[in-house]
Amino acid sequence: MTRFQAEFEQRGYGWWAVEVQATGQFIGFAGLDRVEDGMPFTGVEIGWRLARQAWGRGYATEAALSVLSYGFDTLDLHEVLAVTTATNLRSQAVMRRIGMTRDPADDFDDPQVPEGPLRPNVLYRISAERH
Ligand SMILES: CC(C)(COP(=O)(O)OP(=O)(O)OC[C@H]1O[C@@H](n2cnc3c(N)ncnc32)[C@H](O)[C@@H]1OP(=O)(O)O)[C@@H](O)C(=O)NCCC(=O)NCCS
Repeated sequence: MTRFQAEFEQRGYGWWAVEVQATGQFIGFAGLDRVEDGMPFTGVEIGWRLARQAWGRGYATEAALSVLSYGFDTLDLHEVLAVTTATNLRSQAVMRRIGMTRDPADDFDDPQVPEGPLRPNVLYRISAERH
């Protein structure tokens, strides 16, 4: 969390804590990050990770929509990307629910992951106009 906070101060975006509004319970994080060096594309990516017991309630989608609005309205980004493994169907469902689309031509093998089920990745995109 200290590292996440420093990133906000350095560049104006990063990973926000996600809390349940009614109770204040901390259930995970969602936010924006610069695409790592070595990927076959560059840009700013959105992401999310919630505690298992918080799945299935729409929290990731709700948080992601707020993150997207921040990216487009406050940071003035032109496009936001999202990456996950081809097997991570729950994460891809969040991507589709927030309006992102996938072009199979953008699918890629993560160069930092050894041969195996976690290597094939998919890329989703959304532009400021489509948000
Ligand atoms: C990716 C991850 C955040 C998705 O969580 P999720 O619970 O599937 O996604 P949401 O929070 O958007 O919830 C959607 C589900 O809540 C349901 N839901 C219930 N109430 C809802 C409401 N009021 N509004 C919207 N959806 C609601 C939806 O129907 C959907 O259910 P379904 O999956 O059975 O179709 C979660 O699986 C996770 O943290 N995984 C581990 C980390 C990870 O893989 N991160 C991504 C790495 S790229």
